[in-house]
Amino acid sequence: MTLIDLDDIYSIESNSFPDPWAKVTIEDSIKKLESYALCYLNSGEIVGYLIGYGSEEAYSIYNIAIKSFYQRRGFATYLLQTVMQHHKKLYEHYLLEVRRSNIKAANLYFKLGFKIIYTRRNYYTNPLEDAVVMQFTIKNRMIEQAVEDSSKGDNS
Ligand SMILES: CC(C)(COP(=O)(O)OP(=O)(O)OC[C@H]1O[C@@H](n2cnc3c(N)ncnc32)[C@H](O)[C@@H]1OP(=O)(O)O)[C@@H](O)C(=O)NCCC(=O)NCCS
Repeated sequence: MTLIDLDDIYSIESNSFPDPWAKVTIEDSIKKLESYALCYLNSGEIVGYLIGYGSEEAYSIYNIAIKSFYQRRGFATYLLQTVMQHHKKLYEHYLLEVRRSNIKAANLYFKLGFKIIYTRRNYYTNPLEDAVVMQFTIKNRMIEQAVEDSSKGDNS
């Protein structure tokens, strides 16, 4: 993603969240060397983006959004899986925060194997709401996948 995409990203951001990031915040985060940003192009059109940050301990997903017209077609799944695949040698843990009422996003994260680890009371404003902190751990997921695969094998 380059700064040329900034207007599109900001437009998706402001249509997706009640408390969107300011354009300058998105710009800063794209400019930061350690910040990883990614968008998906379909016939040249930006349909969504993910902004994340890798610290020493974990990779944090700060923001992800897909244009409403393109939702429920697997784009967010693709973005998250691409980022986690890209970083899997560096990071075992992936963290994110989600509004308690954001069922669409929570379902997405549960489906990918994220687990709730704790809640931050009244973390979000506009409107005031708790944040649910979720974590994906590669080792746990591998163990779960092995158990799922072996139980499928038992049934066949
Ligand atoms: C949350 C969001 C990123 C999902 O993007 P998406 O591209 O539609 O997601 P996918 O198509 O990859 O869906 C994957 C799973 O997410 C869940 N999901 C997605 N949309 C859903 C909906 N409308 N209702 C319930 N679950 C939903 C489902 O589990 C879905 O799997 P399924 O289609 O097999 O049932 C998108 O709805 C969005 O941009 N929302 C506004 C911004 C936002 O809330 N970002 C998250 C901030 S924490």
